[in-house]
Amino acid sequence: MLSNFSYCNPTKLYFGDDSLKYLNDELPKYGKNVQLIYGGGSIKKNGIYDAVIQILKANGKNIIEDSGVMPNPTVEKLHEGINIARENNVDLLLAVGGGSCCDYAKAVAVSVYCNDDPWQKYFVRFEEPSCKIVPVGCVLTMAGTGSEMNGGSVITNHQENRKVGHVFGQEVMPKFSILNPKFTYSLPLRQVVAGIYDIFNHICEQYFSGTDDNTSDYLAEALMKSVIHSSLIAVKNPEDYEARSNIMWSATWALNTLISKGKTTDWMVHMLGHAVGAYTNATHGMTLSAVSLPYYRYIMPYGLSKFKRFATEVWNISSTDKSDQQIAEEGLKAMENWMKKLGLAMNISELGATKDMIEGMAESTAILTGGYKTLTKDEIIKILTASL
Ligand code: NZQ
Ligand code: ZN
Repeated sequence: MLSNFSYCNPTKLYFGDDSLKYLNDELPKYGKNVQLIYGGGSIKKNGIYDAVIQILKANGKNIIEDSGVMPNPTVEKLHEGINIARENNVDLLLAVGGGSCCDYAKAVAVSVYCNDDPWQKYFVRFEEPSCKIVPVGCVLTMAGTGSEMNGGSVITNHQENRKVGHVFGQEVMPKFSILNPKFTYSLPLRQVVAGIYDIFNHICEQYFSGTDDNTSDYLAEALMKSVIHSSLIAVKNPEDYEARSNIMWSATWALNTLISKGKTTDWMVHMLGHAVGAYTNATHGMTLSAVSLPYYRYIMPYGLSKFKRFATEVWNISSTDKSDQQIAEEGLKAMENWMKKLGLAMNISELGATKDMIEGMAESTAILTGGYKTLTKDEIIKILTASL
């Protein structure tokens, strides 16, 4: 049965290969000073930077550059961004990049007018913003996180070996996001597949929970099928617009809060992945793929009927003359074969994790209670060890 909920997603999306022109419609809504947030330079190589600058200039904006947002943005970089915003009295934070730029923009947005230490306030104490919030806009260049239409912001603190996400409310979500699938063509294949697995796992995290009949689970199955189908086309032909546009759109729907409505959610693969990321700084989607199978095989007995449904509905495993356990295992095997076809990381050793990190990673793993089994620290150690 669906539990009670409210739903509103205020982010305006512009989708398609001509979508950047709509930046002209959005910019007049904000003041003159625009903090242009981007990463390590990919947007300068693929021409997106020049195109955005041209539109900003045509709209008479003062452009304040804030570059060098790294994958898995750090707390140090966050302070840099806050200072830039304060010194320039910015009116709009425009993130041009992947989830890291968009997440970072949100963390800056809630910190510019806040006197507390942002790491402590938002990522340790999980308080909500009580200050003025600077609006965020996004030009997305990588499909995966869903950050373009949600309130999530993940910041890494290497000193404390912690990577923590805060899901902010509607007032922090991007005011608008521009999604041009062609902007993702220049991504290296490794990033493309990491993004694809991130999308798939976001859906799994919201699917593997509950035993009721729930509309959200049917939506999740449809999205998973679309991602599997398009992913196999995209890895063979990265410039297949149909596949890349479906992947980009699925990414947004996988984590814009819709498919979690009315049900509990798991998110333990992400908690494990974030702990691995805090120690290795590995690519987010790869940290998830590397821990997924040991985790799902461990919890399968506690949620057997959903794993059986996953096998038959998502992977078309036939159920004739087989036990539920066999069907569920075949489903996970099919997922494993797909992951290998994509070339995903299948263990954490290949991401730089070593045995001596396991204890610390387990310590850094937040334990959530929405899935089929609330893990103990010993069980987390077991799963991480099986992921080596
Ligand atoms: O920095 P540049 O030079 O731009 O290069 C980036 C970066 O190296 C490159 N890239 C992006 N678009 C490109 C491109 N290269 C060529 N052509 C393009 N069009 O790709 C690399 C990865 O980018 P990044 O933004 O780090 O990737 P992603 O979108 O996966 O974001 C990862 C971050 O998002 C967090 C992750 O933990 C991680 O910190 N997440 C945010 C979530 C949310 N807001 O809801 C949920 C997710 O589960 C996730 O935790
Ligand atoms: Zn993710």
